Amino acid sequence: MIINLRSDTQTLPTEAMLRAMVSAPLGDDVLGEDPTVRKLEDMAARMLGKEAGLLVVSGTMGNLVSLMAHSNRGDEVILDPDSHIFYHEAGSMAAIAGLMPMPVKSCDGMLDPDAVAAAIRKPNVHYPIPRILCLENTHNRSGGRVVPLDLHRELCAVAHDRGLKVHLDGARIFNAQVAAGIPAYEWAREADSVMFCLSKGLSCPIGSIVVGDADFIERARRYRKQIGGGMRQAGIIAACGIVALETMIDRLAEDHTNARLLAQGLADIKGFKVDPGKVETNMVYVDHCATGLSTEEVLLRLECQGVLASGSPPSRIRFVTHRHIDRAIVDEAVRRIKRAMETS
Ligand SMILES: Cc1ncc(COP(=O)(O)O)c(C=O)c1O
Repeated sequence: MIINLRSDTQTLPTEAMLRAMVSAPLGDDVLGEDPTVRKLEDMAARMLGKEAGLLVVSGTMGNLVSLMAHSNRGDEVILDPDSHIFYHEAGSMAAIAGLMPMPVKSCDGMLDPDAVAAAIRKPNVHYPIPRILCLENTHNRSGGRVVPLDLHRELCAVAHDRGLKVHLDGARIFNAQVAAGIPAYEWAREADSVMFCLSKGLSCPIGSIVVGDADFIERARRYRKQIGGGMRQAGIIAACGIVALETMIDRLAEDHTNARLLAQGLADIKGFKVDPGKVETNMVYVDHCATGLSTEEVLLRLECQGVLASGSPPSRIRFVTHRHIDRAIVDEAVRRIKRAMETS
């Protein structure tokens, strides 16, 4: 059996989702006539305390249409160079939206409000217009860490005081909710827009949602169409999303417990550096520098033992727990990874 710890995107739809797909009422969503999509969009907006929602194909598309709906071409976006938008979205903010990134480095996913304030430049004919602050919660490249609500509020206030909009990449905002015991709408309240993913720990096969005020969502809907994201009988996707929001959020706690167990097991492996105390949600990053192996070599060794993980060269490997990884599989994964790293 292959143990797939590459990402929570590996999750398959549940039986209830498959049943819901078959019986969902459908219509043409580009014309606003799919009742299942409308139900999901309204439900998501209500859960996050916003006026309106928009179903999009992916988290990347959700982030892109959000940035487009908040800005004009040539505007500046303040964001962490370790954020997904900057690092992992194929440069879409520049290539498609014509936006200028102003990177402000976070420390372990935590942006410094003073550094953000300093990066927001005063109007000057030489500068792009600073328009958006992007935040990410949970923060993927820092190991799925939860950005505390107090810090989030402070960062939003810095942006708003200077006339910027705040977009929250909340791909895993419900992991933050479950880990911190704070409803996702508390983070959403401070932001002008939020994107979250249905297709990660919530187990849907496809889809993300953007929420914000009604005008913003209308603009985002138009940009979604412009970049080819208008879908027709998208109710078959939305039906899974409704099941996910109704039944799949609380179980994320299991993924978090399993990630901590995994981290504890991996911490005993020679050459691996991992701090189980920093595992707050469903991700475990291991620094393998002391093994003397390249990231590709470590990944290959794991694969030979039937364990899949993802690499973040030069010296980090990421393991992500999800619905298909239970405690027994975590124990087996630790045994296999030990074996992989002990073989010379
Ligand atoms: C923090 C974050 N934002 C956005 C995305 C993009 O989602 P998608 O893969 O659906 O485009 C991801 C995907 O892993 C992510 O981790």
